[in-house]
This record gives sequence, C-alpha cells and structure tokens, in this order.
Amino acid sequence: MPGVHQHAPGQIAQIAARAHQAGVPAVLLFGIPRDKDERATAAYAEDGVVQNAVRAIKQRAPDLTVITDVCLCEYTSHGHCGMVQRDGEHFTILNDESVQIIAKAAVSHAAAGADIVAPSDMMDGRIGAVRRALDAAGFSETAIMSYAAKFASCFYGPFREAAESPPQFGDRRTYQMDPANGDEALREAELDLEEGADILLVKPALPYLDILWRVRERFARPTAVYHVSGEFAMVKTAAEKRVLDERAAVLEIMTSLKRAGADFIITYWALELMEWLRS
Ligand code: PBG
Ligand code: ZN
Repeated sequence: MPGVHQHAPGQIAQIAARAHQAGVPAVLLFGIPRDKDERATAAYAEDGVVQNAVRAIKQRAPDLTVITDVCLCEYTSHGHCGMVQRDGEHFTILNDESVQIIAKAAVSHAAAGADIVAPSDMMDGRIGAVRRALDAAGFSETAIMSYAAKFASCFYGPFREAAESPPQFGDRRTYQMDPANGDEALREAELDLEEGADILLVKPALPYLDILWRVRERFARPTAVYHVSGEFAMVKTAAEKRVLDERAAVLEIMTSLKRAGADFIITYWALELMEWLRS
C-alpha cells in the first residue's frame, strides 16, 4: 500500500510522538503478531505486539489518545475475525467463543493503557461482553468505539495485504453487513448503543455517507467514520498518475465526511492533513 508501512515495536512510540507533535489527536493501532494460531492466543497476550506498543506510546506521549483495534483476524491462522469450526468446504463462525476472546483482548489493551478499544469483528453481542469485561476488570473509564456499521466491502483489499490477514477460505459476508441494506446498519448501531458503545463507527466512508448521516441524525451520539485503505489507494494512485491533485482531493473528501456528520475521522492522511490544514 503506497505510503503505508508496518512499524517495528521499537519505533512505534517515536512515530506516534511525532504525530502527536504535528497535532494528530489520536492513533489507532493494529497488531501483526509473530505467531498466529487457530485460537488467536496472541490477541490477548500481556506482552503482545499491541499491548507493548500501547505501553511504549503512553510512556512517550501520555496525552496522545490511543485507540486499539480489537479483532482476531490478524491473530488467527485462518484469517477470520472470529473462531471457526470447519467442515470441509463449509465453515461456521463460533460467535460466543469468539466474543469471549475478543473481550479478553480488549481487557488486555485497557490494562496496557489504551484509552479506547475498538472492536471491529462484527460478532453479535460483543459490545456488551466487552463492556462487562472491562468494568469487571476495573476499566470502567476505558471507552468503546464500536464498528457498528461495517460493510462487507471490496475497499478493505489493500489493508488485508498490509495486515497479512486475508481469510484463507470463505469470506466475511456472514458477519459483515450487506452493502445494499442500510436499515440493518441502523439496527446494529442501536443494539451497540444499548450494549454500551460510546462512539459509533461507520466504515467505509464515501460509499456510505448516507449511513453516516443517518446514524448521526438518528442517535445524536459521537460518530466516527473510517476512510479505508481502498478509498485511500484510489486517490493515491490517481495522484501518482497526475489525474488528481492529492491535497485538493483529500481536503474535499474530509470536508464531505465532516458535512455528513462525522465527529471523528480515521484516515491514512492524518499526518499530511495536519500540515495541509495549517498552511
Ligand atoms: C479487520 C479490519 C479490516 C479493516 C480494519 N479492521 C479488514 C477487514 O475487515 O477485512 C480494514 C481497514 C482498511 O481497509 O483500511 N477487522
Ligand atoms: Zn477482523
């Protein structure tokens, strides 16, 4: 993915501190563990890659908000966001077993110092389970940003390459949402709020601006939008070919996300944006 790199644990604090100095208010961490297994054990290891990164960043830049992606797909050998039971060509996602591991991962991130945990797996009941687990472990101050409306999208392609997490069989359509079904997104958002979500997230961004608008209008709660890797790659590629002016395109896209109701924008351009907004 152009302009996107995996960072070694030893460098991450320095990079995050530089972003903080540039005015970026928060970072969202994804981990790529050394070893993956069927049960995603590395996802909740106390000295896991994300847990270590959170501690290092908090030491170096205590005021930078640290958000962690909570999912199993980077940690499972099969690349699915939950645990699976396989039967030849068929597989089922083990929802409740997955939710337990996801809650354990969230608690381990909070214990390392994460301010916000962001479950992106789309299992049923995960927000309630994460909230209960956090509270039980004494982390009632840790907030939850829920991927409430996460659609099964082709625009995640570059991320899956970068995160080394493409599913080894099947796809994610059984747990991510149908792009044709906008009402389902609102129902999911409502459930997540009932279960204790503090921030609702819509993803991807531009093809789903109507959903962002509806979620923000309907619930009037803090709403985030995730401008994803494929959306980023489209503009980057066009800019490299001199078809678009990158700065103008990005500023227009970000403006439209704000206009459609985003309180928070997750973007791969955060660093550049801070410079562009100042100049
Ligand atoms: C995995 C996850 C994905 C992204 C964020 N978390 C990929 C997926 O669901 O396949 C995509 C991010 C991006 O494309 O920028 N839970
Ligand atoms: Zn996942």
